[in-house]
Parts: sequence; C-alpha cells; structure tokens
Amino acid sequence: MIPMTFTGKPSLGALFYSITVFLHPVLSAQYTTSGSETPHDNTQNCTCYVVGSGANADQPAYFQYYRFFDFRNLADNADQYVQAPPLLNTSQEAASASVWDANILNSDAWKTDWNIQNWSKPATSDFPTPMTNSFANVYIQQNADGGDDFTFLTLRTSRLNDSQTAAEIENEQKNLMHVTMRMHARVVGSKGAVAGFFTFFDDSNESDIEILTRDPKTTIRYTNQPAVDKSGNEVASASVAPQNLASWDQWQTHRIDWLDKNSFWYLNGKEVAANTYSVPRKPSGLTINMWSDGGEWSGNMEQGGSAEFQIQWIEMAFNTSGPVGGPKGKRDVEVLQKRKKSKGCEVVCKIDDVEKMGTPDIVSVNYSMAGSVSVSWGLLAIVTLVSFFTSM
Ligand SMILES: *[C@@H]1O[C@H](CO)[C@@H](O)[C@H](O)[C@H]1NC(C)=O
Ligand SMILES: *[C@@H]1O[C@H](CO)[C@@H](O)[C@H](O)[C@H]1NC(C)=O
Ligand SMILES: *[C@@H]1O[C@H](CO)[C@@H](O)[C@H](O)[C@H]1NC(C)=O
Ligand SMILES: *[C@@H]1O[C@H](CO)[C@@H](O)[C@H](O)[C@H]1NC(C)=O
Ligand SMILES: *[C@@H]1O[C@H](CO)[C@@H](O)[C@H](O)[C@H]1NC(C)=O
Ligand SMILES: *[C@@H]1O[C@H](CO)[C@@H](O)[C@H](O)[C@H]1NC(C)=O
Repeated sequence: MIPMTFTGKPSLGALFYSITVFLHPVLSAQYTTSGSETPHDNTQNCTCYVVGSGANADQPAYFQYYRFFDFRNLADNADQYVQAPPLLNTSQEAASASVWDANILNSDAWKTDWNIQNWSKPATSDFPTPMTNSFANVYIQQNADGGDDFTFLTLRTSRLNDSQTAAEIENEQKNLMHVTMRMHARVVGSKGAVAGFFTFFDDSNESDIEILTRDPKTTIRYTNQPAVDKSGNEVASASVAPQNLASWDQWQTHRIDWLDKNSFWYLNGKEVAANTYSVPRKPSGLTINMWSDGGEWSGNMEQGGSAEFQIQWIEMAFNTSGPVGGPKGKRDVEVLQKRKKSKGCEVVCKIDDVEKMGTPDIVSVNYSMAGSVSVSWGLLAIVTLVSFFTSM
C-alpha cells in the first residue's frame, strides 16, 4: 500500500516541468549513445529511478534502468542542417535512398540505440495510398529561429501523386516491461499525417501517442491497441482524444507511463488521459513514426504535401523482461544488472525536476549499517516516499 500522506498537494507533474530548464549545450557534432550508460546516467550512483505517476502524477513508480537520447547537440556550426533535405520524388527513390547525415545516422553510436526502417506496404481498399518508409526521411535539422542553437531529429512523410513516403525508427531495447517514456517534440506540415510515439510488441500489445495533422492542434490521440475488434468495429474504450491541450505544433513534452495494469498519458507533466483497456502485457520496444496511407485514421494527404515530426530528446526509465543486455548486450551493463539484482535499490534517483535535464538526481540513499544489504524493492515505496516528495 502506498501511504497517502501527500494527497492534497498540487500536481507535482506540473511542477516538474515548469521548473525544468532546458539547457542547450555547446555545439559539438556527436551523437552519444546512451548504451554506454555513463554520459547522462550516473548509474554508478543510481540503482533505481522513481517518478510521480498515476492520475495526479503523485504515485511513485520505480524503474531499474534509465536512458536519455539527446538530439539537441549534433551540429558542427550554425549553418549546418538548417535546410531540410529535398523531398523524395518517386517511391523507387524512397526505397533505395540512403540516409542523410550519415556521419550521425550511420554511426555505431546511433546504431547501438536506433534502427531506421525501410519497409513498404501496398495499397488496400481501406488504405488506398501505398506507403514506403525511407531512410532519407530521417534527418537532423538545426533550429533556424535565430539566437537559439539546437538541433533535433526529424521524421518526414510526403505525398507523391501515386504513393506516400514515410519514416520510422525503432529503439534497440526490445524488452521493455513497463516504462515511463517522454519526448520533447512538435509536429508541423500538411494534413493527413500521423506522428506516432508508442510501445510495440504486436497489434494487441501497443500503447500509443498519436498526433494526427488533420486534427485540431490542441487534440491528441491516446490509444491502447487493439482499437478495432475482430469483426472490424471500433472499440470505443481503446482511444481517448482530449481537446484544448497545449498545441502540438509547438515544442511540448509528451509522455506515456506503461505500468502493470494502467496506462497514463501526460502533456508537460500533467495527466491528460488514462486507460485500463488492453494495457500491454508483452515485452515491447519503443517505435517512432511519421506516416499516412490515405485511410480513415490518417486521412489523405494532398499531392505534393509533406509533414514533419521533430524531436529534441527522448527520455525513458524502464524495467525489462529479462537481462537488460543493453543495446548489443554490453558486458558492463550485464555486470551492473547483477549488482542491482543482488543489492536491491540502494540509491534512489529521480528524473523529473532535476538540476540538469537528462541527468538523474539522487533523492535517497538506503545503505544498511553493514553496507552490504540494501532496502528491498518491496519496502522501497515507504522508505523513499518521504525524501522523494520533500525534495520537491
Ligand atoms: C557517485 O559515485 C562515485 C563513484 O562511486 C563517488 O565517487 C561519488 O561520490 C558518488 N556521488 C554521489 C553524489 O554520491
Ligand atoms: C520495476 O522493477 C522493480 C523491481 O522488480 C519493481 O519493484 C517495480 O515495481 C517495477 N516497476 C514497474 C513500474 O513495474
Ligand atoms: C527531387 O526533384 C527535385 C527537382 O528535380 C530535385 O531538386 C531534388 O533533389 C529531388 N529529390 C531527391 C531526393 O533527389
Ligand atoms: C532495406 O535496407 C536494407 C539495408 O540497407 C537493404 O538490405 C534492403 O534491401 C532494404 N529493403 C528494401 C525493401 O528496400
Ligand atoms: C502530380 O499531379 C499534379 C496534379 O494533381 C500534376 O500537376 C503534377 O504534374 C503531377 N506530378 C507528377 C510527377 O506526375
Ligand atoms: C498481447 O499478446 C498476447 C499474445 O499475442 C495476446 O494474447 C494478448 O491478448 C495481447 N494483449 C494483451 C493486452 O495482453
């Protein structure tokens, strides 16, 4: 049972984000894989991560692992990446095109974390526009607003006369088993596209944030799949579409908490949707995409249209269904895993309302007197709550 001593406090989630300062580090053209665990994650110190989850973002949820994927810091100079690459002209070109910005998007560091997709699907009667995912629809861009230097990752979809080009990337950590995952992102461009940020195992174990460019800019779709039953009818409880949200064409922080029996969705730290329908039960990966197929959900994009899904950073704290393995099964990660397993959670860290975005801060240390046995996960909730919430 979780003690209820902190009910009545204002939304902590709202506080987290209003206080957070987004630092734009000095420009340096390198993507740093989070697979190494060290750059943003002081794991030597943190043995678990606590977030305020639930309907008011005030129920503690604990996770064993943490990653911060930072796309803000990838340019060599102020003029780089300010222009989006040219649109693809044919579906053949889309299928065979290689990736832009290969120094980053083909680097070992990148590939340790991400896999850019190039699958296609044909037209059907329900989804009349054939679609080709292209490596060339994933690229780096630099903020051109002036005075504020940062880069971001873009996934683009564009409409040709006879087909759609699209973009998708998958995270290499495929065995997430509960996660809080966030992105700082915006969506711009033509109507008829879907920007998706979701957990995926299969069509009935999938938890989505979807921004439909045909929707009002203040509406976002939050869905647990399947949204359609076996006879093809819509499942009303699968999807919610709150209105009057902060506009998705501006930079916002979007978040899904996939927990044991609940899904919660947040925008800028405030809960905006919840569901207990079809909460995924299978180990899943994180997928991000930008697409359209002319169907009822995406709508039909006008010929010559295009839309962009732009992401500054992605953050996640998660458990896994087995050994974390790390992207590519890094040895040091496995050693770490063993250490965590044998010792429980000694050093509890938070990831929201931290001194530096992407670097967890310690909220409590639970070394035993002997220094060998720490507090068990079961007792953790009670022991750490006080320090977690008083540290706000
Ligand atoms: C984190 O761990 C390192 C190495 O174990 C130690 O030197 C450092 O003091 C620790 N930092 C904190 C804040 O506990
Ligand atoms: C993550 O794993 C720890 C250790 O098993 C457990 O105590 C915690 O409740 C798990 N978190 C979620 C959200 O499932
Ligand atoms: C598509 O065609 C335009 C006009 O000819 C050209 O400028 C552009 O580079 C082409 N796109 C690609 C990806 O080659
Ligand atoms: C996708 O890319 C891979 C790796 O570059 C390539 O081997 C494969 O043929 C491509 N698939 C399609 C359908 O174009
Ligand atoms: C695509 O269709 C538009 C009109 O719908 C036409 O003006 C344009 O020339 C077509 N482009 C190509 C490459 O066929
Ligand atoms: C998850 O996948 C399994 C196996 O495919 C399926 O039986 C189950 O209905 C799916 N969805 C949920 C929420 O468990």
